[in-house]
Amino acid sequence: MKILVTGGLGYIGSHTVVELQNNGYDVLVIDNLSNSSFDVLDRIESISGIRPQYQELELRDKPAVISFFKQNSDIDAIIHFAASKAVGESVENPLLYYENNLNTLIYLLQECDAHSINSFIFSSSCTVYGEPDSLPITESAPVKKATSPYGNTKQISEEILIDVCSVSETLNTIALRYFNPIGAHNTAEIGELPKGTPQNLVPFITQTAAGIRKELSVFGDDYPTVDGSCIRDYIHVVDLANAHVVALERLLNKKNKANYEVFNIGTGRGSSVLEVVNAFEKVTNQKLNYKIVDRRPGDVVSVYADTNKANDELGWKAEKSMEDALESAWKWEKKVRGI
Ligand code: UD1
Repeated sequence: MKILVTGGLGYIGSHTVVELQNNGYDVLVIDNLSNSSFDVLDRIESISGIRPQYQELELRDKPAVISFFKQNSDIDAIIHFAASKAVGESVENPLLYYENNLNTLIYLLQECDAHSINSFIFSSSCTVYGEPDSLPITESAPVKKATSPYGNTKQISEEILIDVCSVSETLNTIALRYFNPIGAHNTAEIGELPKGTPQNLVPFITQTAAGIRKELSVFGDDYPTVDGSCIRDYIHVVDLANAHVVALERLLNKKNKANYEVFNIGTGRGSSVLEVVNAFEKVTNQKLNYKIVDRRPGDVVSVYADTNKANDELGWKAEKSMEDALESAWKWEKKVRGI
């Protein structure tokens, strides 16, 4: 089976390529290297002993996409990661986000139709829930008005998939709503390497511990939570990668119950920012420099997954702990910085 992985050199994509190869799939990676680097291919090869097929491709370039699919007529399924994901940047440059995240999805779905590719997995996000009315949050919770263009692209993408599936006789899709992916592969060959200042919590923590950032700013300690800081569901990226393999198998084995399905992919456990900081200090045995600052606009107070649907229907469950994830993130950061 040949699986096309878009954005396969990125953070979640690269971990998924490894797990796909470990499970015997042939992988074809496309990436435009906008937030990744070519040497990730070597690193994937050094973990799994197999170098995935690779082509640099700009998915916004429709003629290039059409010609790519003409040349690669043996694709059985697509896992679509390629997208922009920085919330703040999306507020500043909404058109970039709408073009990057929506046009590319449309072009890919057109090619699925043209070449009878019937299995499609989409990277969605818990951001579609906005501020939840009750926790843990289930897949049937309402989708709230998005608080950023980035979040809106995930909502619109899900709507596009629903509409396309409602008229397609052949296409089967699964949208995975990720909670907060953290950590790295235990070999420290691949991990999260944001370009510029990290926007996400864990890369900011590891870069602070590595001495690249002076201190972590904790955005708010006056929320109505255990210790006043926001709560999220942090999931190990390798667990998340494995959820894609399981979802793919569900589609390839025709076990899906509808031609559009959505699953929460989280641990089911909420942790506050300060709990993450404390856990990091504990597993790395060092103090982290941090200060409490104002709330960050757009942050929801608390969100964590109800994972029953993923556990029962998909047969997938997160296995690794937050401590494992933080330890692996630190090991990766040290390797990248030569510490
Ligand atoms: C956001 C998006 C999510 C997206 C992810 C990827 C929303 C609601 N969430 O997740 O959909 O997939 O980005 O980029 O749009 N924090 C600090 N200091 C920091 C950084 C973060 O205190 O320097 C706190 C935040 O306030 C938050 C938590 O850490 O409470 C996690 O933040 P972050 O890693 O940025 O992820 P989300 O905002 O949850």
